Amino acid sequence: MKRDGSASNCGMLLACAAALFIASYAASCAAPPRPTLVPDGYRSWSLTTNVRLDYPIPGHEDRYRVIQMNEKGFTFTRAEGPSGRVDFPEGTIIAKDIFPTSNPGPTDLPVMLTAMIKAPSDPDARGGWLWVIKDLSSGMETLQKGDFCVRCHANANEAHPYGSKNPGGAFSDYVFFVPGRQSAASSTGAY
Ligand code: HEC
Repeated sequence: MKRDGSASNCGMLLACAAALFIASYAASCAAPPRPTLVPDGYRSWSLTTNVRLDYPIPGHEDRYRVIQMNEKGFTFTRAEGPSGRVDFPEGTIIAKDIFPTSNPGPTDLPVMLTAMIKAPSDPDARGGWLWVIKDLSSGMETLQKGDFCVRCHANANEAHPYGSKNPGGAFSDYVFFVPGRQSAASSTGAY
C-alpha cells in the first residue's frame, strides 16, 4: 500500500513539474525578458545640465530632477550654427532621476527614473530611442511603446521654453537639455 501511495505521489509530482516547465516555457515565449536597460551605476555619469531642475514642467509638477548621461552620449555630433542639428550615437543612455519633492534633503533618494536609450533599429524605438520608466523601489523597468513620451519630446526639436530654449529650432534628437547649450539658458522660470 505504502509503496503504491508513494509511487502515485511521485507521478503527480512529475506531472506538476512538467506543467510548471510548460508554463514557464510558454511565458518565456510570450515575452522574452530584456536584459536590464539602465545599468545600476548611472548616478556616477556626468550631468547634461547644471540648471537646477526644480521648476514645474508638464506631467512632473515641481519635483526635483537630475539628468545624467553615459560617456557614449557625450560623443554626440552637432552641426555648425544655431540651427545645426544634433545627433546622439547608438548606445547613448540618458537617465533622469525624479525626487518626491522640489527640495529634497541630502539623504532623500529619487523615487523614479525615466530614461532614453538610443537604439534606432529596435522595433520598440520611437524617434530612434527606447523610452523607459523605472520604479526605483522595485527595480522594475517598463518600456513605453506608445507615443506618449516621444510626442512631448518632439518639442525639443523646435524652439521650446526649457533650458537653452533652442531658439534656432535645431533638430535636437528629442533631447531638451543638450550639453553645452545651456550656457545661454535662463536657469529657472523658463516655463
Ligand atoms: C509633457 C512633456 C513631457 C513628457 C510627456 C515626457 N517628458 Fe521627458 N522631459 C520633458 C522636459 C521638459 C524635459 C527637460 C528636463 C526637465 O525639466 O525635467 C524632459 C527630460 C527628459 C529626459 C532627459 C533628456 C532631455 O530631454 O533633456 C529624459 C531621459 C526623459 N525626459 C524621459 C522621458 C520619458 C521616458 C517619458 C515617458 C515616460 C517622458 N520623458 C515624457 C518633458 C516631457
